[in-house]
Amino acid sequence: MNNSLIIALDFASKQQVFQFLERFDDSESLFVKVGMELFYQEGPSIVTELKDKNHQVFLDLKLHDIPNTVNKAMKGLARLGADLVNVHAAGGSAMMTAAIEGLEAGTSSGLVRPKCIAVTQLTSTSEQQMQSEQLIPVSIEESVLHYAGLAQGSGMDGVVCSTWEAGKIRSSLGPDFLTVTPGIRLSTDAVQDQKRIATPETAKQAGVSAIVVGRPITQAADPVESYFQIKRAWEGVSLT
Ligand code: C5P
Repeated sequence: MNNSLIIALDFASKQQVFQFLERFDDSESLFVKVGMELFYQEGPSIVTELKDKNHQVFLDLKLHDIPNTVNKAMKGLARLGADLVNVHAAGGSAMMTAAIEGLEAGTSSGLVRPKCIAVTQLTSTSEQQMQSEQLIPVSIEESVLHYAGLAQGSGMDGVVCSTWEAGKIRSSLGPDFLTVTPGIRLSTDAVQDQKRIATPETAKQAGVSAIVVGRPITQAADPVESYFQIKRAWEGVSLT
């Protein structure tokens, strides 16, 4: 999972996904993210079909509900064979523990349970918005660090966070605790709705474990070229 470049497959249909993936060489093993848009249109078979094509799958459904519901939902998701799933840390420690227990219960013996990470604050949320809308009266960094500690204490494998908090999370919670970071843009890319963005090089220098990139690849004139351009930038920086 470390050093992965995860492509966010934010498409509305399976047909668009496979048209996009056909551009890549068959031998290129990709790590892809299936989010709500695609999952709600196509259902669980999208995950099994991607796994059949030897891609690693991050199933980004950001569960947030009472512990019992999340436990049962995760049991089902573990059976699909996703490599990585997630919840919102705001659901609390009991919900996060229930998520891990559900994944363990749904993983057949001999197989590895999917990793589970917690969303701290969405990268589209600004500090001002968090303070005025969620009534959290601390800095966004403090809120993210607090959620990351809560997630680790609840048995999560890591967090979704922006590059800007990843270094602090890594130094306070250790290098084995995954930091998965969306909001990645090359300096020439459009920012779109993301607020706390960073380049792949900055993410690597901050000690991020894996980056998630959507529109800069999927909406590019040449998606394969953009993928390799971002991959080179991400892999080209060695962590000091
Ligand atoms: O197109 P873009 O690169 O902005 O896509 C980022 C992807 O990461 C989207 O699929 C979005 O849902 C997801 N994501 C995010 N911020 C989070 C968690 C997930 O942008 N905190």
